Amino acid sequence: MVSTAGPDRPDPSPGTRRPEGGLRNASWDQIRDLFALDRDCTHLNTGTVGAMPHEVLEVNDRVTREWTGGLMNVYPPAMYTEHRANIGRAFGVDQDEMVICHNATEGVARVIHGLDLGDGDEVVTTSHECYSVLSNFNLVRNRHGLTIRTVTPPSGPDVRAEEIVELFERQITPRTKVLAFAAITLFTGTMMPVRELCELAHRHGLITVIDGALLPGMLDCDLRAYGADFISCSGSKFQCGPLGTGLLYVRNKVHPEYNPLPLPTFWPVISTWYPMIGSPPPRTTTSVESYNMGDYLQSAGSANIAKGAALARACELWDEIGRDRIELRVRELAEYARSRLVEHFGWESLYSPSSDPRLRSPLIAFNPFRAREDAWNIKKFITFVDRLESEHRIWIRWTEFDVPGSPHQHYAARLCTHLFNGHDEIDRAVGTMAALAREIS
Ligand SMILES: Cc1ncc(COP(=O)(O)O)c(C=O)c1O
Repeated sequence: MVSTAGPDRPDPSPGTRRPEGGLRNASWDQIRDLFALDRDCTHLNTGTVGAMPHEVLEVNDRVTREWTGGLMNVYPPAMYTEHRANIGRAFGVDQDEMVICHNATEGVARVIHGLDLGDGDEVVTTSHECYSVLSNFNLVRNRHGLTIRTVTPPSGPDVRAEEIVELFERQITPRTKVLAFAAITLFTGTMMPVRELCELAHRHGLITVIDGALLPGMLDCDLRAYGADFISCSGSKFQCGPLGTGLLYVRNKVHPEYNPLPLPTFWPVISTWYPMIGSPPPRTTTSVESYNMGDYLQSAGSANIAKGAALARACELWDEIGRDRIELRVRELAEYARSRLVEHFGWESLYSPSSDPRLRSPLIAFNPFRAREDAWNIKKFITFVDRLESEHRIWIRWTEFDVPGSPHQHYAARLCTHLFNGHDEIDRAVGTMAALAREIS
């Protein structure tokens, strides 16, 4: 290990030392040391909240102190001009299309309330969306008289991408204006066929709203290439930034190879940059923006400058390690975990699509109990997750969701793998889960 401390600087804490050869060549053990995670805790719940690297915590603390009690002008840095450009680059988009916001919920709410929708317009979405999406659409339904057509995606190990695309397509009517779905669903960890669904939307002239809460930090993704209009993301899950951070991609120019449709009318609600008199210029029809929509949304009063800087640092760390390398690692660990789960609980225990590689994500939902009907026994799931945490320091979560044709919701245990996990801890966690599930069954 080589210290980054200079002659007049104190030796940094262990988690901020750079391995020789840089992070791109660091071992996964060395990378685990970057994180403020106890060695004896097994964190398999990044889909809820990630773990911050020490450096990210340090930036958060340092910038908070720098700005506390100062008389500096807090508004220019709240635009995050440079951070947005750097983060945007990592995700294949420009600064005018990127916003640092407070979380995925805030991002998607600002999108849903900014769409130009009215009485009779229809939105097609799924019952497997996060509450943040469904409650906001229901609000605009009550307020503006929209119709929300909600489909329940199939679950189970043998679901195929085509089934999902067909399910959406069957719901589209001449009144449909919006297709809204999660890139990766939180209940069953289904990696939606994002590009195919966006192409479906393009064929029908629809606006696409993607809940991408789980994307950044997990996948080496190009947000523009998906072809969506809006993608709201969390900064504190797989990207491991501070809680209360998010990223919002807003399509602000037309790249026909990705999305040939004109830009949708969009009202950037919560803005101090939107003109105070008159209207903004018309939106562009080319690959050159006519104004900076990102600025309109970013400028919304004072901001948590420290959290923005800390999220930017987390993104830089990911770029240094290599987002391609991280994605491969996360997926490899997930497939390892999936095989161990199948060994202990059986293929049929899986709620997550598994045989179609296009739908696999590192979030894996399963029924750990022998009896099938225990999949609707919430008490057992609460006990299972609580005891894993309190007795074994293993963090997972349980989820509840609709299943086509079932009169009631099902519950599942859900684990997810991230770059700081290792094969040994997956072995230990799955073995412990199997023993505990037998005891509770
Ligand atoms: C798919 C999905 N969407 C949205 C959210 C909400 O994210 P945030 O806490 O960043 O608002 C979550 C949280 O778990 C999620 O998993």
